[in-house]
Amino acid sequence: MHRQAIGIDIGGSSIKAALVDLTRGTLIGERKSVPSPAMSAVSEMMDAMAAALPDNASNLMAGVTFPGVVVGGTVYTAANVAKAWIGQPLAEPAAQKLKRQVVAINDADAAGLAEVQFGAARDVKGTVMVLSLGTGIGSALFVDGKLVPNTELGHLEFDGMEAEARASGRARMERKLDWTSYINELNYVLNSIHALFWPDLIVLCGGITADNPNLCDDLKVRSQLKVGALRADAGIVGAAYATTLAQGVWITPAKAVSK
Ligand code: BGC
Repeated sequence: MHRQAIGIDIGGSSIKAALVDLTRGTLIGERKSVPSPAMSAVSEMMDAMAAALPDNASNLMAGVTFPGVVVGGTVYTAANVAKAWIGQPLAEPAAQKLKRQVVAINDADAAGLAEVQFGAARDVKGTVMVLSLGTGIGSALFVDGKLVPNTELGHLEFDGMEAEARASGRARMERKLDWTSYINELNYVLNSIHALFWPDLIVLCGGITADNPNLCDDLKVRSQLKVGALRADAGIVGAAYATTLAQGVWITPAKAVSK
C-alpha cells in the first residue's frame, strides 16, 4: 500500500487538505484551507477542491469527506449543505478534476477512522462510537475496529428534537446556551444514544472539543468517554486513510483517469 495519500475534508465553511503520512497518521507539510462552496453548485466545489490540493501531491490517491451520507462515491443526504447534492456523484467528478483516483466518505466516518487507526480509539476492542460536534452531529460506529458506515445518529430525535438541533456546536450558538445548559443537552443526547447502542467507548471530536479539551470532565455517561486525539486534522487523516481500505459498496474508487 502507498504510505502517503491526500486527505480533503469538505466542511460547510471551509475545505481543508493536506498530504498525509499513512504510517503515522500525521500531516506532511502545510495544510491548505479554502472557503467551501458547499451551498453552491457542484462545479464550484470541484474548482475549490482543486485549489486546496497540496502542491507536492504528485499522482497520489485522494480521499474526500462530505458532510452527508456517501455510498459508492455518491452523496445521498445534505442536511447542512445545498440540497442539490442529494443524488450527486462526488468521487467520479473529483477524480476527473483532480486527475487521480478518489474515494469519497462521510466526514464523521473519516474522523472516526482516524481516531481508531491513530488516535483516542486505537486498539480498542468492542463497540466504539465517534461523535463529531460541529455544524451538525456526525457519528461513526465501529465494532472491533471495523466501521459500520453512514450511521446518522445526529438525526435521531429525542423528545421531539433532533440530537444535532439540541447539542451540535451550531445549536449551542443558535440557542444561545450557556456552558451549563449546553452540557445538560449534550449529556442528555449522549445518554440517549448510549441507551440505544451501549458503546464501550465514546470519542468526541469537532470544534467544541478543540476549544474545550476538558469537556469530558463535565459529562456523565456510563461508557468510557474521551476527546479525539487528532483534533482538527481527524477528517483529513481519515479521508487519506480511506484510500487504503478494500473496495466496498461504500467507497468505490472512481476509475483511474489518465493525465
Ligand atoms: C449529516 C452527517 C454529517 C454530520 C456532520 C449531519 O447533519 O447528516 O452526514 O456527518 O452532519 O457533518
